[in-house]
Amino acid sequence: MTTRCKTAILISGSGTNLQAFIDRVGCGALNLELSVVFSNKPDAFGLVRARNAGIPTACIEHSEFADRDSFDHAVAAKLDEWQPDLLVLAGFMRIISEVFLEAFPQRIINIHPALLPAFPGLHVQKKALEYGARFSGCTVHFVDAGVDTGPIIIQAVVPILDDDTEESLSARILQQEHQIYPKAIQLLAEDRVKIQDRRVLIDSKETPETALTNPPI
Ligand code: GRF
Repeated sequence: MTTRCKTAILISGSGTNLQAFIDRVGCGALNLELSVVFSNKPDAFGLVRARNAGIPTACIEHSEFADRDSFDHAVAAKLDEWQPDLLVLAGFMRIISEVFLEAFPQRIINIHPALLPAFPGLHVQKKALEYGARFSGCTVHFVDAGVDTGPIIIQAVVPILDDDTEESLSARILQQEHQIYPKAIQLLAEDRVKIQDRRVLIDSKETPETALTNPPI
């Protein structure tokens, strides 16, 4: 993207990922325009974070619509007022319909608190723990018509410890979300991300760390 990337953030709740974007844009570590924060819930704390940062907000309650498509039409029309280059789902607890995908093709990304394709869906920190996985993490991916199935942009791995609870694991994963989501957005804003079939190719000279083991060898 040659101009400053105009970003719409969609939330339903606390908005700690949103706060990570606000903080990084504020200190110049992330170069984009936070154009609007949208929520489907009027009491989402993320709306307060947005207002405190001087970012425009919008809210449409899904409960006022008969079906998913009519809600998505209304949201797409509302967001279009800001002409966003990128839609960032950050704890937006709604499944995206074709209506939305057609309105913003390959311009919607999501973060998921597990290492996809393992553990899609809800309550995934608990599921990873109960399964006995030794690593979990988080994934930023493009949104497609499936649930948590789109091409993967960036992942962070966290170990699962013997004394972990759902809460402790969720907190460790969330810390990494706050690192990788701004990075993913930066890569997109700098036009360094290409989708090739299911794979995402990143234009970067940085090489990832070598293998992790848990327990360490
Ligand atoms: C995060 O765990 C994210 O992975 C999931 O919803 C949560 C949002 O957290 N999609 P927050 O609202 O950004 O604090």
